[in-house]
Amino acid sequence: MADQEPVTLSIEGGIAEIRISNPPVNALSAAVRGGLVRAAEAAAADPSVRAVVVTAEGRTFIAGADITEFGKPPIPPSLPEAIAALEGLAKPVVAAINGAALGGGLEVALGCHARVAAPAARLGLPEIKLGLLPGAGGTQRLPRLVGAVPALRLMTDGNPVSAGDAQAMGLVDEVAEDALAAARALALRLADAGRPTPSRDRMDLGSREAFEEAAAALLKKGAENPSIGACVDAVRAAFDKPFEEGMAAERAHFLRLREDPRSKALRHVFLAERAAARIPGLPKGTKPRPVERAAVIGAGTMGGGIAMSFANAGIPVTLIETSEENLARGLERVAGNYATSVKRGSLSEEARAKRMGLIEGKVGLEAAAGADVIVEAVFEEMGLKKEIFGKLQEIARPGAVLATNTSYLDVDEIAASTRRPGDVLGMHFFSPANVMKLLEVVRGRETAPDALATAVELGRKLAKVPVVSGVCYGFIGNRMLARRTAMAERLLQEGALPQEVDKALTDFGFRMGPFAMADLAGLDIGWRIRKATGKTSPVADALCEAGRLGQKTKRGYYDYSGDGRTGTPDPEVLALIERVSAEQGLTRRSIPQEEILERLLYPMINEGARILEEGVAARAGDIDTVWLNGYGWPAWTGGPMFHADLVGLPRIVARLRDFAAASGDDSLQPAALLLRLAESGGSFASLDQKEAA
Ligand code: CAA
Repeated sequence: MADQEPVTLSIEGGIAEIRISNPPVNALSAAVRGGLVRAAEAAAADPSVRAVVVTAEGRTFIAGADITEFGKPPIPPSLPEAIAALEGLAKPVVAAINGAALGGGLEVALGCHARVAAPAARLGLPEIKLGLLPGAGGTQRLPRLVGAVPALRLMTDGNPVSAGDAQAMGLVDEVAEDALAAARALALRLADAGRPTPSRDRMDLGSREAFEEAAAALLKKGAENPSIGACVDAVRAAFDKPFEEGMAAERAHFLRLREDPRSKALRHVFLAERAAARIPGLPKGTKPRPVERAAVIGAGTMGGGIAMSFANAGIPVTLIETSEENLARGLERVAGNYATSVKRGSLSEEARAKRMGLIEGKVGLEAAAGADVIVEAVFEEMGLKKEIFGKLQEIARPGAVLATNTSYLDVDEIAASTRRPGDVLGMHFFSPANVMKLLEVVRGRETAPDALATAVELGRKLAKVPVVSGVCYGFIGNRMLARRTAMAERLLQEGALPQEVDKALTDFGFRMGPFAMADLAGLDIGWRIRKATGKTSPVADALCEAGRLGQKTKRGYYDYSGDGRTGTPDPEVLALIERVSAEQGLTRRSIPQEEILERLLYPMINEGARILEEGVAARAGDIDTVWLNGYGWPAWTGGPMFHADLVGLPRIVARLRDFAAASGDDSLQPAALLLRLAESGGSFASLDQKEAA
């Protein structure tokens, strides 16, 4: 792909400098691996070369294996071979770690004979986050270099360490502002003093007992995670077996895990989240507008959380209310949230003061005048929103992005209340807005390309995962959720119990089922919406009428009279459900867990297919990203659309037809796109690949 060689060799002053340049993150593609081997051979053959330095271009050193190559046939040389070529040199090889050294990137550095890191560099083995283990000698070299216990910790938590911490643990030899210059100097000193012992030939493993103790604790805590067992087994081999046999053990685990559907799912999640930030159909050269100041209208729970998101990202924000009283209450809530984080130890006092200092409270919409982006987060009422946007068109400075945080309402109708609809879009945050990663960016009919690009870029600055959605009722996430909610209610009427429905989803991997979730959020929210829109949900309505509004009334689908947070099944609820079933003329039956699960998930997937065919979402991966980051869909199943491919689309079509026939509900009939894919042997993944090409 790159027209320029991704690995270059330059020889000067007795040093061969091997430089990797493979934007954006210097991943170890086949071309890079081949280039490393050739450069090592050339350095070995040139008598003027006394030492070698390996470094890379840009902000990262090497971000690891090229994840996009994983599903494809392997191209030699392998990464272990490339690393062996560097390690096997008789001349000293020093890594100049200019930025992040992750996964295979850290393994390259471990194969060098010494390491110098820039202060901002971060070093880690994140493979576990992709359902893997280090596969290019990391499990053998790292323990021999820094000890088995710290090595095991690094590879099982997956989080990188700073250059300073890496030095303290013996992973890097020096930290220097100019890592390259320091590496060159070190390389020359080593050329005189003699090549250091390579990591593979060291035996600084530390105590076997301490390792077994750490391993037992990890295995107990992460019993369901196959990567942990593999890491433990591979590091144990470093104690028990010669290097080459340890390498073989590691390789076997790596190849097995790479084929595990859970690892495939996690890799999909990684790539889908990044793809989601690319907006299809933007005119070339579209530039986001600069955002230096923000304003948030409405200091309720949502508005306060959004303001915190801005402050956390270092963006000054004005929080606006209609009265001093409301404003004080909102600011107090924000201050309370930050104080809790300080008490918990997750935020320093200094950071708290800085963030609070970035949030300014004001009464009156006029205070939004100086903002580059204005997020409206008031009550979910069309009339009110239109009134605010009507006023904003005069108040907001030209070029300001005007965003609504609505979760259901028509963004085009809101935009039509201004003379500047090009500036209007949706920024749908999820509660609690300062915590949840998902940001649905809603593109209106008239939204200007650069306004859209601004919102997406801003989302990433706020440490969110932005996904673009078209306009429709509930956008991507809540529109699909409505399918699940309706089916959950239906299952209760037909014979299932709340705890059975919830268990089907928690066994699948969700942290909470729909009824436990409804109890937590409060049943009155949905009740109010149903009453306003003339809809009914007989069991939910009956619970609300009985004053069972969820945890806040200590009774909902479950009974919370114990500690107020743990729900237990309640015979009163069973009686109420049985009454509703009778009223609906339904004979209750026991419903197997598998049927419950399929009936909850497949209608959502079907709705996802409609969302795709209507162009509301640009890619199936975008839908997965929404569900993974906003609704707790378990990552190791890859999201609803990835899961659908795995189940097999013909199976989903057949089951949807069963559900439609049994209930007489035609909205459960398979969507046209789903049918077409199932009949042609296609998949949602193949659609996304076409889109990307
Ligand atoms: N392979 C292929 N592409 C990668 C990649 C990788 N390892 N890492 C990042 N990219 C791509 C991203 O997909 C993204 O592409 P687009 O711009 O086309 O969307 C681009 O690089 C930039 O990535 P980010 O948006 O994440 O940039 P960032 O600056 O926020 O973060 C980073 C940079 C910290 C390096 C981050 O990308 C990251 O954590 N990467 C993954 C690291 C990783 O998991 N490495 C282990 C790989 S597995 C391995 O190495 C196995 C082994 O032992 C052989």
